[in-house]
Amino acid sequence: MIPIKSSNTKSSSIIAMGERLANAATKTGKEYLLLNRGVNSVVNIDINKVVKEIDFNSDAIQVYPGSKGKANLRNAINKEYFNDQANTKNILITGGGISGLDIAFQNINVDEILLPNFFWGTYVQILNLRNINFSSYKNYETLIEQGDKLKGKAIIICDPGNPLGEKHDDKELLKTISTLNKAGAIILFDSPYRRLFLDNTDTFYQQLLQFYNVVIIESFSKSIGLSGQRIGFIHCSDENFIKEATLRISYATNGINGFAQTLVSDLLFTELGKKAVSDFKLTTTTAIAKNIKYIKDHKLLANDFYDGSISQGIFAVVNKSTEELFTKRIGSVSLNYFTLVPNIEYDSFSRILLAIPHEKFVSFFRTLK
Ligand SMILES: Cc1ncc(COP(=O)(O)O)c(C=O)c1O
Repeated sequence: MIPIKSSNTKSSSIIAMGERLANAATKTGKEYLLLNRGVNSVVNIDINKVVKEIDFNSDAIQVYPGSKGKANLRNAINKEYFNDQANTKNILITGGGISGLDIAFQNINVDEILLPNFFWGTYVQILNLRNINFSSYKNYETLIEQGDKLKGKAIIICDPGNPLGEKHDDKELLKTISTLNKAGAIILFDSPYRRLFLDNTDTFYQQLLQFYNVVIIESFSKSIGLSGQRIGFIHCSDENFIKEATLRISYATNGINGFAQTLVSDLLFTELGKKAVSDFKLTTTTAIAKNIKYIKDHKLLANDFYDGSISQGIFAVVNKSTEELFTKRIGSVSLNYFTLVPNIEYDSFSRILLAIPHEKFVSFFRTLK
């Protein structure tokens, strides 16, 4: 027997539901909707034309990419996300958001990490893996009230959120971040759904550059539909954070896949790439908007959870249980999976993915009473 150190984690309910749906589909020969997962499924991004322009017999693809990531991609990110106002040295390429979060969690020396009231369950699994204390906060108001008491803690902000898909006003976010930054708390801004809805005219990330306690963790999985490429980035204005995070990335990975980096920099930089990205975003967000309208019109949206925010993201929480949705061949995940304080009441609410074609969405939901 190989002696094992426990990872202190468990596999997610999202995956368990995926297996249940796959089994049911095989058994019945009928289609089940995979609304349990966080994969934009309206269309795939069409990268075929962009890929034809890539020289695969090149060092860019075949040789170690460097620990910080390729200069081309980091420059493209600086332009796309920060209007060229960031220092490219402060941008590190990561193996997707999950790896960026893991690196950030390991890199900061804090007493605990505060999660949103309803949060992506994986945060807890990574924190358990790294033996880091955590708790949750109710809303931004309560964070602001706590002020200096938050020194020595890190706070995760995710907007639009997962599981609710709630979007707060950017002014409210900035006010909260500014207050926390001043109080000496660390802000982990993990909002991989934001840029699906916005392009480079969004100035929010530029405004975050002034805050030395902010770590931006970004991903190309959701905003441009490349979850299979496992790529994202971290930005932090604090040099020391970047220095140590670079070493951690270096010894954990030896750098991030060269093809994925070349592909994303071409998608952000070239005319063909920009067109592929904007087509993907437009088709995806149009379907999401129609699906949100449908669940609102049919009184399925769990309105009570959207106090002070609007439903905008790729997910929403509906007032139907996972079992009820399952009988209509719709996959979902109970709201209880997304909180530290499970509550029997939450079992009558489920998170669903909205990013699927509208006609298909309606064809399944129309059978719900
Ligand atoms: C809130 C949030 N952050 C980060 C991620 C990480 O995504 P990835 O590792 O694919 O970049 C996800 C994925 O579902 C997420 O929901």
